[in-house]
Amino acid sequence: MLSVSINSANPAEVGTALLIVALPENPSVAGITALDAATQGALTRSIEMKDFRGSRDEVLHLTGVAKGPRRVLLVGMGAVTDRKAALRRAATLGGRNAHRLGVGEAAWYSEQITPDEIEAVTVGLIAGSWEYADLKSPAPEAERKKPLEKAIILATNTDDSRRGLASGQAMGEGQSLARRLAMMPGNLCTPDYLVQTASDIAKRYGMGITVLGRREMEVEKMGSFLAVAQGTPQDPKLIALEYKGGKPNAKPVVLVGKGLCFDSGGISIKPAQGMEFMKFDMCGAAGVLGTFEALGRMKPEVNVVGIIGATTNMPSGTAMNPGDVVKAQNGKSIEIINTDAEGRLVLADCLSYAKRFDPDVVIDAATLTGACVIALGHTATGVFSGDDALIAEILAAGKRAGEPGWPLPLWDEYKDLIKSDVADVKNSGGRPAGAVTAAMFLKEFAEGYAWAHLDIAGTAYSETDLVTIPKGPTGVPTGTFIEFIRGRVR
Ligand code: BES
Ligand code: MN
Ligand code: ZN
Repeated sequence: MLSVSINSANPAEVGTALLIVALPENPSVAGITALDAATQGALTRSIEMKDFRGSRDEVLHLTGVAKGPRRVLLVGMGAVTDRKAALRRAATLGGRNAHRLGVGEAAWYSEQITPDEIEAVTVGLIAGSWEYADLKSPAPEAERKKPLEKAIILATNTDDSRRGLASGQAMGEGQSLARRLAMMPGNLCTPDYLVQTASDIAKRYGMGITVLGRREMEVEKMGSFLAVAQGTPQDPKLIALEYKGGKPNAKPVVLVGKGLCFDSGGISIKPAQGMEFMKFDMCGAAGVLGTFEALGRMKPEVNVVGIIGATTNMPSGTAMNPGDVVKAQNGKSIEIINTDAEGRLVLADCLSYAKRFDPDVVIDAATLTGACVIALGHTATGVFSGDDALIAEILAAGKRAGEPGWPLPLWDEYKDLIKSDVADVKNSGGRPAGAVTAAMFLKEFAEGYAWAHLDIAGTAYSETDLVTIPKGPTGVPTGTFIEFIRGRVR
C-alpha cells in the first residue's frame, strides 16, 4: 500500500516524477510563482488560455520540466466551501491519476495546509491509488506500470502535521482493508477468512476476540442467524472484537456488520443478472474490520466492540424455506416470507448478542435492501434511529468522512407491514417502504440500548466506474464509523 510522508521541500525544486498541484476555481499563480518560473510559465499560460480553470475534478497533465518535478498534474477543486472535503477529493483523483500513469512516486502540493487537511490529503492519496490486483497475472515486463508506492506531501514538518499524517494513514489503511475484503470473491473471502482477518487484527493490536461457530450459536439459541446458515456446509461465524482504549468501566460503542460472504437469495433465489455483486454483501462486516484496523493504529481513548455476522445464503436441501418459522435468541418467533431477506435474520441475533457488552450505543451497517438504493440511490446511506440526536451525530460523522447519510423514518406506523399470521414478526413486508420495514424488523431485536441502523446497499460499492472511485467497493461505512468514534472521544 501507498506510504505517505511529509517533506518541506519547495515545490519548484522537489525532485519528483509527478507533482500534483491542487487549485481552486479560477486559480491564480500568486502562490506558485516559483513553480511557474520553473515550468517556464507553463502554469500561467495554461490558466490564461483556459486550458485549466480549476473546476471540480478537472485535471491537466504538463510534461517537460528538466529540473525539479518532471511532470506536473493540475487538479481542480472547484468553488471550495469545505476545504478538507475538496482536498480529499482532489487527492483521490490525483492519486488515481498518478497510479494510472505508473510513475511509482509522487508529490502533493496545495499551498498552505493544516494538519487536518494533511489527514484528508493522505486519506485521498491512499484511496486514489487503491487497487485490487491480487488475482491478476502481472503484465509482460515491457508493459508493466509501477504502482504508486510513495507519496510526499509538501508541508512544514511539525508534530501537528505528523499527527495529521498518522491519522490519515490509519484511516487509509482501514478503508483499504475494507475495500480489499469487499472486492475479494466469495470463494476466498469466506466466514473463516473474516475470522482470520479479525484474529490477525486482534493479535497485532492486543485486542480481545471471541468467535462463535454453528455449535456455539446453537448453545446460544440463535435460531434466526442459524436459519440462514443451515443452507451452507460452511461453518457460520459470529465474531466479536474488543478494543479497550477507554476507561475500564466506560460503556463501549458497539458496531455490528452484516457479513454475507455471498447472498444468492437462498430458495427465494435472485435473478442471475448481476448476482456476482452479492459478494459485496459483507461490506458492513468489512467496515467493522477496517475500523478496527484504524483503531489499532490511532489508539483513541474509547472502548469499542465490533460484531460480525458471517455466513452465506444458499439454496440447498437443508436451506430454510418460505413459510418456516424460527426463534431468535431474544425469544421472538419469525416467519420467513422471503429467504432473500436474510441479512435481517443474521443481524437479529447479532443485535441480541450486542446487549451483553452493556453498550453505550449500537450502530449496525448492512447492505440490507434494494429498496434503500431505490430511495436514496448511490449517494446517501440510509440512517435509521428512534433517537434524533444519534441520527444527527451519525450524519455529522458521515459528512466529515465524505460518506453522506440521510435519515429515513422508523415509525411505529410501519410495524403493521411486518405483522405475521403465525409468528411474532415476519421477515419481509413486501415492496412498500422496503428499507423502512427492514429497519423496523431489526428494531425488534435492538432492545435495551440506544441504536441506529445504516443501510449501505447503495453506497458500499459501485457497479460502474466513478470519477474518483473505480467500479467496486467504496470503503463505506469505514469512514463514518471511524469519525463517529473520534467524535465520541473529543
Ligand atoms: N443483500 C440484499 C440487499 C441488496 C440489494 C444489497 C441490492 C445491495 C444491492 C438483501 O439480502 C436482499 O436480498 N434484500 C431483499 C429484501 C426483500 C426480499 C424483502 C431486497 O432488497 O430485495
Ligand atoms: Mn438477500
Ligand atoms: Zn443480503
